[in-house]
Amino acid sequence: MKKLLKEKTVLISGALGDIGRAVAIAFAEQGAGVALGDIQPAEKAEPLLNELKAIGVPCHYTQVDVSDAAAVDSWLQAAEAALGLVSMVVANAATVTIAGLYQITAEQWSKELRVNLDGAFHIARAVTSRLLEKAAMGSVVFVGSWAAEAVHSHIPAYSVSKAGLRMLSKCMALELAPHGIMVNEIAPGYVDAGLSRTVWEQAPEQKELARLRTPVRQLITPQQVAREVVRLCDPENRHITGSVLLMDGGLSLL
Ligand SMILES: NC(=O)c1ccc[n+]([C@@H]2O[C@H](COP(=O)([O-])OP(=O)(O)OC[C@H]3O[C@@H](n4cnc5c(N)ncnc54)[C@H](O)[C@@H]3O)[C@@H](O)[C@H]2O)c1
Repeated sequence: MKKLLKEKTVLISGALGDIGRAVAIAFAEQGAGVALGDIQPAEKAEPLLNELKAIGVPCHYTQVDVSDAAAVDSWLQAAEAALGLVSMVVANAATVTIAGLYQITAEQWSKELRVNLDGAFHIARAVTSRLLEKAAMGSVVFVGSWAAEAVHSHIPAYSVSKAGLRMLSKCMALELAPHGIMVNEIAPGYVDAGLSRTVWEQAPEQKELARLRTPVRQLITPQQVAREVVRLCDPENRHITGSVLLMDGGLSLL
């Protein structure tokens, strides 16, 4: 079977996290070269790089803080030098601080917005600026959350960052539509991994409550998120842009 993304390259932030790793593997399985970036040191990337090489795709890792615009530009340059023009970008890096509006410090609040919102802006703008220069088509996927539309009072900074990401995605989608660059957001509910796991480690009883609260009565796996992210980057898609792919098992219907 022909691989959907052969000879294309994707840039993924937060690529060493649970969802980031699954996304990297899902792109590789469709033949894409993979430029990984994360704040973690290079040695942490070795197992994933080996997995991607075993699948048979070119790959590259850069240690980068997405909240630093200049560092993001350098990451993109290094990725292009190694893998060629990047035509797909997945803005996935994020952090979460469990602290209500009157507990969170000013530093924690602005750090969360700098990483989750500014960081997504930096990488999406860097990649799409290059695509505009080259008059090339491409895809942007922002990894958002259903927390963008439901009040989560224990993680207000995270929720505000994801609400901002939603409007960033729509603004960018409108601006880039005439250039054939499709911009979309995926908004998962409770994923049994990563940031939710961080929350559940502090309150283990919450995990089963989350499953029971979800109308489909199942938590999401990182692989299920990854499959939808890849689908949003289908090069044949010329119409789905500015959309929110809500994959929350019906949570936001409640
Ligand atoms: N886990 C869930 O339930 C869930 C639900 C909805 C949305 N999401 C979203 O999925 C995405 C991935 O989250 P995850 O659950 O895999 O979490 P994770 O913690 O496993 O992954 C996040 C990754 O981002 C990296 N990172 C953090 N700060 C960074 C920075 N400044 N620069 C570069 N990299 C940085 C971390 O090192 C980590 O590898 C996030 O955008 C998150 O908001 C997760």
